[in-house]
Amino acid sequence: MESKSKQFKRYTVTSALPYANGPIHIGHLAGVYVPADIYVRYLRMTGEDVVFIGGSDEHGVPITIKARQQGIQPQEVVDKYHRIIKESFADFGISFDVYSRTSAPIHHQTAAAFFKTLYDKGVFIEKTSQQYYDTEAGQFLADRYITGTCPHCSFERAYGDQCESCGTSLSPLDLKNPRSALSGNVPVLKETKHWFLPLDQAEGWLREWIIEGHKDDWKTNVYGQCKSWIDQGLQPRAVTRDLDWGVKVPVEGADGKVLYVWFDAPIGYISATREWSEKTGKDWQLYWKSDDSKLVHFIGKDNIVFHCIIFPAMLQSEGSYILPDNVPANEFLNLENDKISTSRNWAVWLHEYLIDFPGRQDELRYVLTANAPETKDNDFTWKDFQARNNNELLAVYGNFVNRTLVLTGKYFGGVVPAMGELTVKDREVLEQMDAFPEKIGASISLYRFREALNEFMNLARLGNKYLTENEPWKLFKTDPERVQTILAVSLQIVAKLMVLSEPFLPFSAARLATMLKSKRFNWQEAYTTVLLPAGHQLGEAGYLFTKIDDDAIEAQVQKLLDTKKANKQAAGPELKAQKETITYEQFAGMDLRTGTIVAAEVMPKAKKLLKLVVDTGLDKRTVVSGIAEHYQPESIIGQKVVMLVNLAPRELRGVVSQGMILMAENSEGKLCFVSPTTDFHNGSEVK
Ligand code: 2FM
Ligand code: ZN
Repeated sequence: MESKSKQFKRYTVTSALPYANGPIHIGHLAGVYVPADIYVRYLRMTGEDVVFIGGSDEHGVPITIKARQQGIQPQEVVDKYHRIIKESFADFGISFDVYSRTSAPIHHQTAAAFFKTLYDKGVFIEKTSQQYYDTEAGQFLADRYITGTCPHCSFERAYGDQCESCGTSLSPLDLKNPRSALSGNVPVLKETKHWFLPLDQAEGWLREWIIEGHKDDWKTNVYGQCKSWIDQGLQPRAVTRDLDWGVKVPVEGADGKVLYVWFDAPIGYISATREWSEKTGKDWQLYWKSDDSKLVHFIGKDNIVFHCIIFPAMLQSEGSYILPDNVPANEFLNLENDKISTSRNWAVWLHEYLIDFPGRQDELRYVLTANAPETKDNDFTWKDFQARNNNELLAVYGNFVNRTLVLTGKYFGGVVPAMGELTVKDREVLEQMDAFPEKIGASISLYRFREALNEFMNLARLGNKYLTENEPWKLFKTDPERVQTILAVSLQIVAKLMVLSEPFLPFSAARLATMLKSKRFNWQEAYTTVLLPAGHQLGEAGYLFTKIDDDAIEAQVQKLLDTKKANKQAAGPELKAQKETITYEQFAGMDLRTGTIVAAEVMPKAKKLLKLVVDTGLDKRTVVSGIAEHYQPESIIGQKVVMLVNLAPRELRGVVSQGMILMAENSEGKLCFVSPTTDFHNGSEVK
């Protein structure tokens, strides 16, 4: 609420630090980095003093587990992914002022000092408790080192810190049937000492600050989650772990202990600002400790509690820091109706996208913003990507720009014509045009990026409609002066689009500036009606966007289908639960024999059935088998089989079937014969 009336002198904008244990995908971009980048680019264009912070989160159990699986050191894992992630962000124009990492010495020093300050102030509760320990590995089992059954939804592979099936936050002792992720063994309980942040003591002011103070300006999803946490009652939370990878706990008696990753990671924002300040000579403290600085955290919804409750409680306990003014968290982006997943490789990886669609960063930025999961989970589909590119970016914005520039080239040698007498309609269009910087800016300031982008496209639509309605190509022969005015008006719209597109589509904004041979304008200048003066020589007209054809989209869809198939194969078939037990007598009652198929033919009017003759050693008998979709009749003559010969005969489509051949599904879902591997004679008993 406060922020609406309050004037800020500077902005500290953070974006969640991604874990450096995998590359970056479209979900990351849509949820956090593109909105943050739009916001920051806009602020910079309005002349605000802003620092945009990013970096890699390089601690935490998943990273050590990955290193262990690959037989390498955690540092090697994070070095690899930090480089890949940083490069992807740069490729997509995410305009960080600093992109740091939590394994950097400045971070270890900053995080340790932060902990020590709280420790010295007596903020923490020191508690010895029983925790799971793997005797074989000689290690306590923090967070994801322990798995078991979720007490809420019975999911059998829940982690010690969270159940990924129902999303509930857990602690290791909540799990049923706990197992060590290191050895698979049942862990034992062993005493260990840890430090806890007493969140229960912060409940009062958190309630006042969030529930009363931010009801109107925080997003409903963010506010709702915070309220539910606070209403459930906050508990002290352990901020240290028994691990050897992380920031060492800087106090006596803490050997073998590090800070919990969620304690050190948000301090990473502060460390990164310090790193930036060392490079630029700016005073980092102004951005974190001055009331006239506005702190905004861009995150995904799974990070809400950490940024709205735990980190603020840490900052407040320290005493000298400001609290976030807003935390515009997004919901999740799904991919083709399925949750994006690194472990299942169900994602569009940014580095792979750029190989398949080189130079098309803005197209992805556009689609991810137009379809951003701002208020609910959304779905990315390749068909939608193609449609938005072809029918919106290209057909509306790109074509309008191209038509205007080509016509100006053709009729006036690429020189901006002077506006002649303006019609009422011309004036209306110019007036409408002039309202866009304000509208778009207001939406961005309120973190409504979809709305802002839609407004931007409305300006392109306005231009497109104006050109189409005025048809300068039909008028040139009879009324060249009118054509001058039409193109002069259109060119001002083009120039305004160039300026206003910059936060959303920075790459094409730069291409357009080259085509217009225009200087870059700031946001205030975009309020000016005439951005391109008469007589200005334009550059060469080109295409801002091009069509994405069906083949390119089908290739992407096929890639995902291949992933699905590979996942299915790796997971093996879905096994049915075991049937009810039977007695030995029931089993012994089944007469199973080896046999050979001696004849096979298709059953008329039955797509799935083959009529077989099997030599059972006892006789040659007819069996009807549902395998026609898997085998050609001629290919199975001579096939050895196992057959239940004393099954009561039954009639199928007029043929009496006298037994049942044993089959099993292979990993691709094909029915295969369960056949004797040695050369049995027909009629041998299977027992
Ligand atoms: O969810 C994540 O990917 C975390 N690594 C985000 C950390 S944000 C901040 F606290 F650093
Ligand atoms: Zn669960």
